[in-house]
Amino acid sequence: MLLLLLLFSEGLVQRGASAKASQVPGPPRAAAEEPISFRVLQTSSFANSSWASLHGSGWLGELQTHGWDSVLGTIVFLWPWAQGNFSTQELKNLQNLFMLYFHGFTIEVQAFAHEFQFEYPFELQVSAGCTEQAGKASGSFLNGAYQGSDFLSFQGNSWKPSPGAGSPAQKACEVLNNYLDIKEIVQTLLRGTCPRFLAGILQAGKSELERQVKPEAWLSAGRPPGPGRLLLVCHVSGFHPKPVWVMWMRGEQEQRGTRRGDVLPHADGTWYLRVTLDVAAREAAGLSCRVRHSSLGGQDIVLHWGGGNSAVLTLLCLVAAVSLLVLLAGHFCSRKHSSNRKALAPAASSPDSPTGADGQGPRTPGRQVYTPQESWIKNRFLKKWKTSLNQLWGR
Ligand SMILES: *[C@@H]1O[C@H](CO)[C@@H](O)[C@H](O)[C@H]1NC(C)=O
Ligand SMILES: *[C@@H]1O[C@H](CO)[C@@H](O)[C@H](O)[C@H]1NC(C)=O
Repeated sequence: MLLLLLLFSEGLVQRGASAKASQVPGPPRAAAEEPISFRVLQTSSFANSSWASLHGSGWLGELQTHGWDSVLGTIVFLWPWAQGNFSTQELKNLQNLFMLYFHGFTIEVQAFAHEFQFEYPFELQVSAGCTEQAGKASGSFLNGAYQGSDFLSFQGNSWKPSPGAGSPAQKACEVLNNYLDIKEIVQTLLRGTCPRFLAGILQAGKSELERQVKPEAWLSAGRPPGPGRLLLVCHVSGFHPKPVWVMWMRGEQEQRGTRRGDVLPHADGTWYLRVTLDVAAREAAGLSCRVRHSSLGGQDIVLHWGGGNSAVLTLLCLVAAVSLLVLLAGHFCSRKHSSNRKALAPAASSPDSPTGADGQGPRTPGRQVYTPQESWIKNRFLKKWKTSLNQLWGR
């Protein structure tokens, strides 16, 4: 059974070959030279000695291509091309292997939990896979984490404890290194199966991976960071591929206080990013948010704080809201028509932020435009994103 424990690691990700490029603020580079990986991620949660759950998934670069149905013990193909060029039989064999492995992994971990000093409840993560660059296999990896920290990895042909993981990891590696056949299987999967699968699925999924979708961008004000200060928020949404450069600028001057959030996934495979700047309210005028993305063909999106799209949009929304109210008022009580309009106008013309977005402060019609989208992202995707981020980075 221990054999299965080791077996699991089909697709570790190298920490962020492609992820890294997209995290660093800087103009996106040509996609062709980027290394790309296929990796299998596993997260196993152990609540107590008799209860565990497992989540498995497959990723081509930043794109999830596979899921794992742990009830049926089957691979879930999320795209028509996610079988790559493997035959149904070969995939079935892999599926059986994973089923055995996942099952065995849980049992073995529970059996060894005490010896490896795993304390309930705990979470183990495995990320295993291979990379390709410029059409050539360029490496493979398998990393394991305990409670979000590096625990061990497969290096060369043996198991190595991660620096800082202490004696439990040393003990685990000692045990694992006794099983030569497991090491052989892991090597075969990492250095044979994975690169072959990666080459095939890269071809099959080429058009999806190379899809260019232009971002939409808009501005809003976040919760004020302090008295007399503003949090300017630049939202960039719906773009593909993931690498994007977004910066708060004053003229041509990049603002060093620009803070970049995590790039969050939408359900349709496109991305969302929020970039903020904390400024003194009187210095906000003249700032702009600049967005550079491969889909824009060198034509950056530039949104000006206060004067640009957001103000226009807010104004449009205010006009629409006021008109609607006026119409309604007119409908119900034509005599109060004019007094309603007077009452509404001052409130509508003095929002304390151009649009508002983060659910703080008085509600204005402008705010309502953005709030649903934000909460949609927060509720639906932030959670999912956090899970996948944890898996991606082995934490
Ligand atoms: C183990 O954890 C599960 C899930 O939290 C819980 O439902 C169950 O009662 C626990 N069993 C024991 C023996 O503590
Ligand atoms: C799939 O494609 C890769 C790369 O083109 C190739 O090496 C492999 O033999 C093909 N077939 C299978 C079944 O792996």
